[in-house]
Amino acid sequence: MGRGPANQCPFPPGVCMAGLKPVEEFDLLIFGGAGDLSLRKLLPALFHRDGAGQLPPGSRIFAIGRNAMARDDFQSLVKGTFEARFPTLPEDQWRSFSARLHYLNLNAENSSTWGDLKTALEGHDDRLRAIYLATPPHLFGPIAKGFYEQQLLSNNMRIVLEKPVGHDEASAREINDEVGTYFPENQIYRIDHYLGKETVQNLLALRFGNALFEPLWRREVIDHVQITVAEDLGVGNRVGYYDGIGALRDMVQNHLLQLLCLVAMEPPSSLDDDAVRDEKLKVLRALKPMSEADVRAHSVRAQYASGAVGGTVVPGFLEELGKASTTETFVALKVGIENWRWSGIPFYLRTGKRMARKHSEIVIQFKPVPHAIFDGAHYDTLPNQLLIQLQPNEGMKLTIMAKRPGSEGFSLLPVDLDLSFEKAFGAAYPDAYERLLIEALRGNPALFMRRDEIETAWRWTDQLISAWEGSRQKVDSYVAGSWGPTSASLLLDRDGRSWRAGS
Ligand code: BG6
Repeated sequence: MGRGPANQCPFPPGVCMAGLKPVEEFDLLIFGGAGDLSLRKLLPALFHRDGAGQLPPGSRIFAIGRNAMARDDFQSLVKGTFEARFPTLPEDQWRSFSARLHYLNLNAENSSTWGDLKTALEGHDDRLRAIYLATPPHLFGPIAKGFYEQQLLSNNMRIVLEKPVGHDEASAREINDEVGTYFPENQIYRIDHYLGKETVQNLLALRFGNALFEPLWRREVIDHVQITVAEDLGVGNRVGYYDGIGALRDMVQNHLLQLLCLVAMEPPSSLDDDAVRDEKLKVLRALKPMSEADVRAHSVRAQYASGAVGGTVVPGFLEELGKASTTETFVALKVGIENWRWSGIPFYLRTGKRMARKHSEIVIQFKPVPHAIFDGAHYDTLPNQLLIQLQPNEGMKLTIMAKRPGSEGFSLLPVDLDLSFEKAFGAAYPDAYERLLIEALRGNPALFMRRDEIETAWRWTDQLISAWEGSRQKVDSYVAGSWGPTSASLLLDRDGRSWRAGS
């Protein structure tokens, strides 16, 4: 678990981010605090940041759950989870972290159960009160209302909403309205954990910290863009929840569209939260709506059938579910953006469960050279490609054509200019939740989604879902452990293109 100290910059002064807002003393209240997300992601993230010295000494963490549990028992539960996941757990670091850790039993919808929380917060009205809602979204409104009714609201508050915010535009609006009744928009932090990933943030650095790429970032030079987010895991014990949700709502509406926005957006005037979010919103508004004919031609949805993943045979989605369903575990789309920069340039998106391996990448495929001078018996002049690898092995690769060494004529070979972040910076990266929790505590909303972004993304997704329903397009199937159904390859084949090899 050991990490280097936070904020230690290996480069000369001025290169590392100066002037980071410090984290002020806080009480963090995690609703759903004994749940899976809290145990797997949030508490380990806080533990790491604590170990890095980023949590002020008096700050407290309250896990809040519906089941009664003694503080000691909760601490043992957390310790057991850490020990099962991490090879070593430094005892002194655990001791100081567990001293911050409390557990409270509360049912948000029952006002008579809020007493312990009120008592715990008494006398701490001045410090930052951060609420993290790792609960099903239908509880977001009742919890926000509870803070109002129990007179626990203060000016120095933040409320973090875990995804999903709703399952369509109408439900997202309803939740946003309910929470917005008690919290102003600038206190609401909506999570898309992809925005906390190192390479996703690096997209901003790549595009707007280098003069090199911006002149090339346009329809005249780029042939198309591919975004792949593949998972090897299946739906597992979320099968009941997942049925009726599917890959489009679970992954495309949020993570893939956010990636698309970062690739496609115009340069913001600054890194201020609203400057970046305004530009992303313009991309979401410019997404080409899909008609029923479009979805038949430009979309694929599929479910995994039984197959071998990493050498183990796994059941298909329908076998896990135990009933018939049209919920997709894989989706591939050809998406258009209707603006000057991208008109006519396809963005191919695909994501799925139980694919060959966990692998996420963005491919910027450039157009071929306008006139081939290295013809004949030599290697084809392949178009350049920029590969941005999100996980695992974060990094970037630019494929260029070079002369094959030797004196036998002029033969070309593709070579990779390869930047592995781990080799370059020699560091293990903090998990996305570490960054996002600290940014929320610092009061920096740039990495969180604004209400209008979420609702606009849902609007586009909703019309796609209703076009799917209208078109009666069939749900395809793919073998678990593959790269998806043949129809997903055909989606690009028809345009004379293919998914990047190896994925
Ligand atoms: C979540 C989805 O938002 O992202 C999950 O609900 C998915 O279904 C997960 O497994 C993937 O996140 P990551 O960081 O592992 O790529």
